[in-house]
Amino acid sequence: MNKLNRPQTGSRSVDEITGGRRLRRMRKAEWSRRLVQETQLRTDDLIWPIFLAEGEGREEKVDAMPGVFRYSVDLAVRQAERAAKLGIPALATFPNVDGTRRDESGSAILDPDNLINRATRAIKEAVPEIGVITDVALDPFTSHGHDGILRDGIIVNDETVAQIAEGAVLQAAAGADIIAPSDMMDGRIGAIRDALDGNGFQDVAIMSYATKFASAFYGPYREAIGTGGLLKGDKKTYYIDPSNSDEALRETEQDLAEGADMVMVKPGLPYLDIIRRIKDTFSVPTFAYQVSGEYAMIKAAAANGWIDGEIAMMESLLAFKRAGCDGILTYFAPEVAQKLRE
Ligand code: PBG
Repeated sequence: MNKLNRPQTGSRSVDEITGGRRLRRMRKAEWSRRLVQETQLRTDDLIWPIFLAEGEGREEKVDAMPGVFRYSVDLAVRQAERAAKLGIPALATFPNVDGTRRDESGSAILDPDNLINRATRAIKEAVPEIGVITDVALDPFTSHGHDGILRDGIIVNDETVAQIAEGAVLQAAAGADIIAPSDMMDGRIGAIRDALDGNGFQDVAIMSYATKFASAFYGPYREAIGTGGLLKGDKKTYYIDPSNSDEALRETEQDLAEGADMVMVKPGLPYLDIIRRIKDTFSVPTFAYQVSGEYAMIKAAAANGWIDGEIAMMESLLAFKRAGCDGILTYFAPEVAQKLRE
């Protein structure tokens, strides 16, 4: 300390320290920041997950997801029209199936007229230009909320795979463009590919939920599709342990070998490292699912005035692009598309 009681600073000037390299030069104005921008978020990057409800003229709030609704099929069609007008390339549908149609084995997935298939037909008829992505997991259809058939406390793999493959064919017959199995059973991608090809659906693609982690961030989704109160136990025997990154790569490699056209990482933001590893390793179309809990956190903090929700939304989605994503499933899709237009 010197006489003035202030700590001594170093003897080198900033230019000596940096060697004259000043990264702030390009940040000094909006135009120069724009020029050096490495990543952009476009409407073409968005997939909009929407929830379906039984009935007609129904639009039900999802409490844990402010701004998100469950739509009956007729209103889902209106939303598909809106999405197409906004330039959103595709929708992903998730049904809230009536309790009376759920059972131990999720058999309603084999009903050609179940909620998800009716919605696909109606959307493709009214808005053929929008892509429809359907999930073939059993959880919306099971009385216990698991993604597979539950027998003596065990989620049985091979029987589940057979049923999912059949369900996938029905979804393709209803008009689904991409089948996206979210169940994480072993061998499902190959089985779905075989089943689709065997029934003349060579052009229907598969987006594999290749790396789906056993995560706490799915909470609000389970409220949205009505499985929250049903689920006994957890999904750790089929989803990936959040600590594992090499295993996520092995899953991805396996799904690609079995015929996945595109792969997805889920949840999104806490797993950006996985996205980057997958993109660098396989160079395949790579997507992320910004899941319900991620959406809810941003909305809740914004509602409390703790963060700027709109900026946080854009920043979170840009982060996916920077990490290597080709696109993102996000509940923010219409809001973002609207904002990108302005
Ligand atoms: C299950 C499924 C989940 C989500 C979509 N399909 C996870 C789960 O309930 O275990 C989560 C989506 C989200 O949280 O936004 N097949």
